Amino acid sequence: MIKPVKKIVLPVAGLGTRFLPATKAIPKEMLPVLDKPLIQYAVEEALEAGIEEIILVTGRNKQVMEDHFDHAYELERILQEKGKEEALELSRSMLLEEGRITYVRQMRPRGLGHAIWCARSFVNDSPFAVALPDDLIKGKPGVLKQMIQAYNEVGGNIIATMDVAKEDTSKYGVITPGESSGKLTEVKGLVEKPHPEDAPSTEAVVGRYILQPEVMEHLAAKEIGAGGEIQLTDALDKLIGNQPFHALNFEGKRFDCGSKIGWLMANLSMAGDDPILASQMRQLITFQ
Ligand code: UTP
Repeated sequence: MIKPVKKIVLPVAGLGTRFLPATKAIPKEMLPVLDKPLIQYAVEEALEAGIEEIILVTGRNKQVMEDHFDHAYELERILQEKGKEEALELSRSMLLEEGRITYVRQMRPRGLGHAIWCARSFVNDSPFAVALPDDLIKGKPGVLKQMIQAYNEVGGNIIATMDVAKEDTSKYGVITPGESSGKLTEVKGLVEKPHPEDAPSTEAVVGRYILQPEVMEHLAAKEIGAGGEIQLTDALDKLIGNQPFHALNFEGKRFDCGSKIGWLMANLSMAGDDPILASQMRQLITFQ
């Protein structure tokens, strides 16, 4: 029997050094793309996929994210007094039922694998999803929903992958592919940031995962991997062969909002979807 996925871990304790000085006092996950912070896109995608319980793995300077998912009483009162109904609704749009969103601290940023391990009590013995909020993915339906649909058929572990240029493999986790059926490919191996010459394929892992709780046992070993960090990819590699493991070549467009160019492209793409902004952008570009 395939256990349903109802939990998600959102690791948000990274330092965001590529976005300094913007991320000195503001978490990277609070950077807006158009009018919403990255973390909100991730939570909305999770809710669309039927996720019921959310945990943010946070660090120092990240409290503002807790505030984002809470009431802002003073703001709400002022908006109410001024009769700004639309703004009031927007400010309240991320209020989930109490207890559905929780927080745990990663005391030092020791890598993505370590961040996920910090959520082990929340995960307990359930399958769970992981989304990296700085990977913004436009998809219809959202990628997490696509992954859960696939998971409900094959179970096990599923990672979202996309084809990248050979010279870019050193920026990603890369799979050794097995047999494919439709959008799903069996994963025979996983390696973090391989040199292009050594990469087993050009199918690269992006920031969405459906995982079995056994991954926590491997993460508990706290093995140091690429870049001196505890890598999720290394723990996942150890599951292969013991549990079903597939890559889903998802439908959608992914933006690496942890990089300046990715964040800029995400803003342009989102603005392009809004007819008024799109026309304003066209006029600006014409007049430059
Ligand atoms: P990144 O690899 O983008 O690292 O993390 P980073 O530290 O956030 O950013 P740069 O590279 O310094 O600019 C991918 C995801 O994993 C989380 C990040 O918050 C991000 O969502 N993460 C990373 C943690 O939660 N803890 C860590 O120790 C490392």
